[in-house]
Amino acid sequence: MAEIYDKQKTIELRRKHVGPSCKVFFSQDPMKIVRAKGQYMYDENGERYLDCINNVAHVGHSHPDVVKAGARQMELLNTNSRFLHDNLVQYAQRLQATLPKRLSVCYFVNSGSEANDLALRLAWQFTGHKDIITLNHAYHGHVSSLIAISPYKFHQMEEGDGDQSVHVAPSPDIYRGKYREDHPDPATAYSDEVRDILQNAHKKGRKIAAFIAESLQSCGGQVIPPPGYFQKVAEHVRGAGGVFIADEVQVGFGRVGSHFWAFQLQGQDFCPDIVTMGKPIGNGHPMSCVVTTRDIGQSFMASGMEYFNTFGGNPVSCAIGLAVLDVIEREDLRGNALRVGNYLSQLLTQQMEKHPLIGDVRGVGLFVGVELVRDRVKRTPATAEAQDLIYKLKDQRILLSADGPHRNVLKFKPPMCFSEEDARLVVDKIDQVLTELEKATGLHTQAVAVAENGPSKRARTCEENGRHPSSGKEHFNDSCRQEEAQCCDRLPVKRLRT
Ligand SMILES: Cc1ncc(COP(=O)(O)O)c(C=O)c1O
Repeated sequence: MAEIYDKQKTIELRRKHVGPSCKVFFSQDPMKIVRAKGQYMYDENGERYLDCINNVAHVGHSHPDVVKAGARQMELLNTNSRFLHDNLVQYAQRLQATLPKRLSVCYFVNSGSEANDLALRLAWQFTGHKDIITLNHAYHGHVSSLIAISPYKFHQMEEGDGDQSVHVAPSPDIYRGKYREDHPDPATAYSDEVRDILQNAHKKGRKIAAFIAESLQSCGGQVIPPPGYFQKVAEHVRGAGGVFIADEVQVGFGRVGSHFWAFQLQGQDFCPDIVTMGKPIGNGHPMSCVVTTRDIGQSFMASGMEYFNTFGGNPVSCAIGLAVLDVIEREDLRGNALRVGNYLSQLLTQQMEKHPLIGDVRGVGLFVGVELVRDRVKRTPATAEAQDLIYKLKDQRILLSADGPHRNVLKFKPPMCFSEEDARLVVDKIDQVLTELEKATGLHTQAVAVAENGPSKRARTCEENGRHPSSGKEHFNDSCRQEEAQCCDRLPVKRLRT
């Protein structure tokens, strides 16, 4: 049964009974999705939407093999991991086979937040240190320990930034960050920032337990760290007695195509000490995992406290997890991510020639970001335009989100069965909407003038042009609320707290 209530009634009941800080996508006209299949979602009227954002439905929404595996195991048994069960050990073995050998010890949990919270406990216990280095704009989860290390969240709080044990390093963003693509060695420059943080902390008598980073920053704006950055950071952090935690909650399980794990993009010589996983691991079923080294596992054991998690690693979750691994392999979804991801990036890059609003296209596999700017020279974030685009695409039955510190980065992270035809469709629609937006703002004419008169003139005219006419305060606030619901709720500071 797809619908119990009509949409208006669902909205009313949600308003009445669900916490007001739990936001919905597209708050001006929320969507009611009643079923989904592959890379498509269907609303209560049977309208089909192309899903470019649900990395949780990794192998495709409602994949029959995953559904069957869960249902079959549910008919038989579901219980906690204090009973022996083959699904648990088989899953651990299969997962280990995708990772470097030294990462061999698993802890099964139920969400990305639980995984990261446990990773912090492992690091604290193993190192005997307390402090954590995190990246600017990072989001690692919703529990207290993780809000504290998530600038994406705590920078929204007026009274935030107060935890002395948390140190924020610059995001290794070579488009908008401190060291850019024209820097001769951004990997060293960004890792030296981490080294400096370590040294300053030591001067104050503080000790670093861990550096934590997503292997590719997602909510932080689809940031691809320069190769070699993680190795250099790990050297500094380990030299100071800390460990390296790679958060693969968004980007793991083959999304990058060329590798199973996004940290492997940094090179064969890099291996984190702890890897956390979530979202895609169960294709929508709440399941997650922390994998670490035997030494770290032993030291956690030495604390004398049992680790027990009621649902973590239950036979149903593990059956589902095994089915997900099978589908990734059988349907060559990594290969698809590579082929379609490259094609999508190529189509988007071609659009750069036509659309001055596109400042940057970056991506690996089916993890792609398009940064919209009002001025390519100044890189002025085109926040309102990005929000306009997202809403207009929704009207065209395409679901896309915008994120990053300025909420101007279009985020592609679709189910891994996304096709070349889907890529063409979404890029065609983006082309249409950007053409309209640029016409309305006069950006297109200015771009022509730039081509004719050189970049300095363009910088000046874009600056004078200012904000998009349709991006008045009211619209901006509304789109903020809509965007707030998207994945990790980044909002401009002080506008709305989540
Ligand atoms: C990088 C990253 N880590 C951790 C989490 C937290 O995962 P969960 O919402 O499953 O607790 C998220 C959620 O968006 C995330 O993006």
